[in-house]
Amino acid sequence: MTTAYVHGYDERETQRLRDQAASLVDLLHHDTRYPAGSCVLEAGCGVGAQTVTLARNSPDAEITSIDLSEASVAAATAAVRAAGVSNVHLERADLFALPFPPASFDHVFVCFVLEHLATPVEALRRLKGMLRPGGTLTVIEGDHGSAYFHPRSERAERAIQCLVDLQARAHGDSLIGRALFPLVTAAGYAQVQVSPRMVYVDGSRPALVEGFTKLTFTAMVEGVREAALAAGMVTAEAFDAGVADLYRTAADDGTFCYTFFKATAVRE
Ligand SMILES: C[S@@+](CC[C@H](N)C(=O)[O-])C[C@H]1O[C@@H](n2cnc3c(N)ncnc32)[C@H](O)[C@@H]1O
Repeated sequence: MTTAYVHGYDERETQRLRDQAASLVDLLHHDTRYPAGSCVLEAGCGVGAQTVTLARNSPDAEITSIDLSEASVAAATAAVRAAGVSNVHLERADLFALPFPPASFDHVFVCFVLEHLATPVEALRRLKGMLRPGGTLTVIEGDHGSAYFHPRSERAERAIQCLVDLQARAHGDSLIGRALFPLVTAAGYAQVQVSPRMVYVDGSRPALVEGFTKLTFTAMVEGVREAALAAGMVTAEAFDAGVADLYRTAADDGTFCYTFFKATAVRE
């Protein structure tokens, strides 16, 4: 079951997903390479922010990328074309009702999708059905509970909590990263391994200050301002002060930490 997508699909969110992907390419993708001739399913490709990296890192694999949103598939198609990669096929599809024969893929890749689903284990089971025996799953998710920073700020933590609560209200789970091992195991995969990927940002890493602290994380929190106010979770003053404190962590004397979780597993 798919839930209301807490981040929305507007132009600002499209750019945020691209900034996120660009700032995290090495951290998240350096160990994902698919062999020549293998068939890869990317479920929930969004605007193609990960798709281009997948395709570049595995130029001789055939990548099929799907998303529920027609507009996102159109944006991903444009991104793939602009990147000049030719090993990606895109189509609109629901990962709970995929239009492919069972066991037709060698690998499945899912990034930042399970956190938005009410039934992530069921999603993982459906994706397992797409894998041939011996095929692999790779899942990447964040965990907003892993965000900590300097200077400390209760107001910033409150603003982040608004996002966590809104996502929970939409039957998603923005704390899902820490639960990947039990979820993937419950879906019946074998050889489940989880690798935490910590992003650490300080003034000596200006690309991450800009690409991660500001344009990925803080922009994501800022993006739920209207929804948080409409839900009566917080006053405008308190929310804006929290966001200002998050931007404050991007100053030369600030730091920011966040952990992503990357799971791999095998269909027996
Ligand atoms: C946060 S975006 C992540 C996109 C991309 N994987 C990335 O990392 O940039 C989540 C995406 O999952 C898609 N999605 C949600 N439920 C889905 C479903 N049932 N089937 C296919 N895609 C789905 C949404 O439309 C959205 O584009």
